[in-house]
Amino acid sequence: MATSQPTPAARNVVLTGFMGTGKTTVGRLLATTLDAEFVDTDDIIVERHGPIAEIFSDQGEGAFRSMERDVAAELGAQTGLVISTGGRMMLDATCVEMLESTGRVFCLAADPQEILRRVMGDGEGPARPLLAGPDPAERVLSLLRERAEGYGRFEQIATDDRPPADVCEDIASRL
Ligand code: S3P
Repeated sequence: MATSQPTPAARNVVLTGFMGTGKTTVGRLLATTLDAEFVDTDDIIVERHGPIAEIFSDQGEGAFRSMERDVAAELGAQTGLVISTGGRMMLDATCVEMLESTGRVFCLAADPQEILRRVMGDGEGPARPLLAGPDPAERVLSLLRERAEGYGRFEQIATDDRPPADVCEDIASRL
């Protein structure tokens, strides 16, 4: 029977994982390696709706999650993409439904210390509303606990002590 699944070459690669696990950096490299188009769901939302911190403060987190679902629907209708997703996007059942069947999903992982070091050092730490409180270290731990089961559904890629090029090569070799 005919199937509606895209051919392997046209399948998307979806990167999920907690903030600071390197989804965007690795995604860009992977897109170059695969000669695919790179898209970042946060960037798409920012282009259309403005800074994420402002969306959270002015319209609430629910509005942001709804924007993520709209983006998931759009991207799920395309092929040949490397998609770096916002840290919670693939924990949303609707987004998963839109994106999972279009390609392979990999979950980038790092230990909490490393995550904290990266998010505080990448200049976007304060722009991440979920970590903007008085104790980002505790927030990282509690969010990781909350999300462990959701992330655990996907194929894991460890990123601790590995340069992005190494992580990229690892993913490419699994495709
Ligand atoms: C979020 C992660 C962020 C961004 C938003 C919410 C989250 O993306 O989507 O601040 O809930 O984990 P990155 O994982 O790219 O930082």
